[in-house]
Amino acid sequence: MSKRTFIVFGLLVVVLAVAIPWLVFNSKGDAQSGDQKVAANLKSGQSLFQTNCGTCHTLYSAGTDGNYGPNLDELLAPNGPPTGETAKSTFESTEGRVLAAVQNGLDSSTPGRMPGGILNEEQAKEVAEFVGHTAGEG
Ligand code: HEC
Repeated sequence: MSKRTFIVFGLLVVVLAVAIPWLVFNSKGDAQSGDQKVAANLKSGQSLFQTNCGTCHTLYSAGTDGNYGPNLDELLAPNGPPTGETAKSTFESTEGRVLAAVQNGLDSSTPGRMPGGILNEEQAKEVAEFVGHTAGEG
């Protein structure tokens, strides 16, 4: 083949083999796209969430899309994760709210039964920390 065809063909291969997977990999996924990267200390909370909460709740950072309970991104951080000086206290209050829901359950509406006590204290704290720090991402 001529040199020119060769170059065109080469470019095509580069586009197909490198650029497309790169674009796919770097595009923002939706709630169904599975695991999102989280800090190492939040990993066990993430997997606890996927196992125990994801069937009822959508949460971007866990890649879950349950819709029996409220979408926790929208409920807990409708404007995205907190930033700035108040971020830390906002994380902490969200965490407290999640912990209370997990430990005590919640049943304020129909249809709506959030079961309480499905995790032990340690696990409940891990999940609350994970949700508190990642709700609103995505
Ligand atoms: C069986 C389905 C179900 C499971 C499992 C479940 N939830 Fe829920 N959750 C609900 C429903 C329904 C509500 C809304 C309850 C209401 O408003 O009456 C809710 C509400 C919440 C809220 C909102 C609390 C508030 O202050 O408004 C949080 C936070 C929450 N769930 C976190 C979790 C976490 C974390 C887990 C896993 C440990 C979990 N949920 C497991 C169904 C579920």
